[in-house]
Amino acid sequence: MDLLRLLSQMTIDEKIGQLVQFNANLFVDSDVDITGPMMQVGLTKENLKNVGSVLNFRDANEMRAVQDKHLSEDRNKIPMLFMMDVIHGYRTIYPIPLALGCSFDEALAKECSKMAAREAAADGVHVTFAPMVDYVRDARWGRVMESCGEEPMLNSRMGAAQVRAFRGDDLRNPDQLATCVKHFAAYGGAEAGRDYNTVELSEHVLREYYLPAYKACIDAGVDMLMPSFNSLNGVPAVANEWLMKQVLKDEWKFGGVVISDYAAVHELLTHGVAANNREAAQLAFACGCDIEMCSGAYINHLKGLIEEGIFTEQQLDEAVLRVLELKDKLGLFEDPYHGASMEKADAVSLTPENRALAKKTAAECAVLLKNDGVLPFSIDVKTIALIGPFAQENRINGVWSCKGSEKETVSVAEGVQALLPDAQIVSVRGCGNEWNDFDRSGFAEAIDAAKNADAVVLCLGEPQDYSGEGNCRTNIDLPGVQTELAKQIVQANPNTAVLLFNGRPLAISELDAFAPAILEMWFPGTEGGSAAAELLFGMCNPGGKLSMSFPRTTGQCPIYYNHPSTGRPKPAKLDGKRLHYTSNYIDCGNLPLYSFGYGLSYSNFVYESMLLDKASMTKDESIQISITVHNDSDVPGQETVQLYMRDLVASMVRPVQQLIGYEKVHLDAGECKTVKFTVTEPMLRFWNHKNQFVSERGEFELSTGYADHLLHTKRFALD
Ligand code: GLC
Repeated sequence: MDLLRLLSQMTIDEKIGQLVQFNANLFVDSDVDITGPMMQVGLTKENLKNVGSVLNFRDANEMRAVQDKHLSEDRNKIPMLFMMDVIHGYRTIYPIPLALGCSFDEALAKECSKMAAREAAADGVHVTFAPMVDYVRDARWGRVMESCGEEPMLNSRMGAAQVRAFRGDDLRNPDQLATCVKHFAAYGGAEAGRDYNTVELSEHVLREYYLPAYKACIDAGVDMLMPSFNSLNGVPAVANEWLMKQVLKDEWKFGGVVISDYAAVHELLTHGVAANNREAAQLAFACGCDIEMCSGAYINHLKGLIEEGIFTEQQLDEAVLRVLELKDKLGLFEDPYHGASMEKADAVSLTPENRALAKKTAAECAVLLKNDGVLPFSIDVKTIALIGPFAQENRINGVWSCKGSEKETVSVAEGVQALLPDAQIVSVRGCGNEWNDFDRSGFAEAIDAAKNADAVVLCLGEPQDYSGEGNCRTNIDLPGVQTELAKQIVQANPNTAVLLFNGRPLAISELDAFAPAILEMWFPGTEGGSAAAELLFGMCNPGGKLSMSFPRTTGQCPIYYNHPSTGRPKPAKLDGKRLHYTSNYIDCGNLPLYSFGYGLSYSNFVYESMLLDKASMTKDESIQISITVHNDSDVPGQETVQLYMRDLVASMVRPVQQLIGYEKVHLDAGECKTVKFTVTEPMLRFWNHKNQFVSERGEFELSTGYADHLLHTKRFALD
């Protein structure tokens, strides 16, 4: 397609139409009340015909109908782009991204993204608003569920893997989706863990922790980028020159399409940096926002800004060309449906292979937090009691689950019954899972069921709508009276294991003190119940490692493993009494209940040694690390071997530990394996106070194990 020629034929109104996006219902329900709220946005029957992209439509048929209607009315025959939040599955749902991070398995993430792309593209989606790679540290924030956690390198690798898998090498392929990395930037740093709240972070912290994952996705070829709702150091992201021009365009040379978040351009008024939509349009367009999502600044004011000479028509053309190029890459000018049809969507969705992948992923993302020996249960048990609000719950997909239906999702009860058809399964809810549900009337029946069972599974957690956008909590305990019920159940039958279903780390110290076993399932998706059953009864061996630290109490938030020392660190070991005048709390320790990188297995992995091939290196040399792990058990399993580094003295404070490498390995019963890493000078670099990415000579420590539990620490020098 000769895009420049096409551009030359377009009127200014038609060009601006390519830079606005609205919800599908406006284009489908022909009787939509344009005179009402949409009138306020400035939409008319006339300019609606120019709109270039759509979000949140129903299915392939609706996409085709809207596309057909549009193309019949559009003078230039420019197809619309159809976009949706395909975050962790489309019809077959796999675990939420925070869980996916616990797999430490980019190959698995790619398989899942490919599956999601196949299902979504067949149903008419051209672009997914994914991956979300916001770096997170505060579990009170509801959108931690969408991120791969508190480790910049893990977030980066998992984000890049998803980009590559969603989009493949050729967007014309009808099984691929264009991608949109979000939310740029540092949305996960919202003050007090409250969504959309202010973000104030130094440039050093931004560059060191919050920005790398977006850059990794850009390097992986992401097609679009979405600025975040939040203000960053006083300026909302979508109008933040430092962020959107100096970093994104000048430094990173991003050439893709920038799309605002939902009405974020208009929200410049409520942020108080624009007095009206005209100013909002000027600020956003000047910062390189190409498409305005679902608000009326561009459609009402961009033309005037150009006619008044604030912007040139060439600047408009550059933005429009980026959008047309994306449509061309998708092959929409040749096939405006991108190969989508209901028949194809039905054929590729929720297949046995897709379900198998969802189950495998749910099992790989589960994290065994505690096991006093009760797990795995024997498959010969005769009576199993499933107790708690998630025992028979099918709503375990998590939010942002597109067409994932609870009707097609396997609950714990269904999964266990399918695995052990001859066992007698008694399911008792026992209590609710809402924060203000203190009803204990179900306790007696639950306790009775536990007493009469060979094995008990407590299925606890927070409702899936307690995480995700706009769903933040000031208290991240297990909601309601679940912990109280759990205590009485364990007293009634110690052969009890807990399954947790949650979209964030929870403060489960009280539960942890008495529960014999705790298996973190997160929101595991379509096959969550069957994966849980296979993990509980040993058909699968859990191998997940936490992508985000579990605080002991909400009061510890934000808490993260890669923190600086401070001038008065609390000594790791104390003789029981509190050491005053050090960085600690009167009422709680500093360490999380479970730290980043932690996770148990049914195997017993012994880290026998870590060897360095030399004690020093120059900048152009490297050091070889060999870590030997022994599976000292009769259970084969997977272990994610982690390599941590500490820069002991530098021109800026450095984290007490920083993951610089990981490798997931399988070890048969009794097997020993040596995992090798190579440390090079670029891995030792950090952003200094002059905002230079440099390494500095001096002593470094290397360790294995996991955060807060480092093993075999050895030093080397960078000369
Ligand atoms: C939402 C979210 C964003 C999503 C967009 C479109 O408000 O912040 O992640 O992609 O709107 O649904």
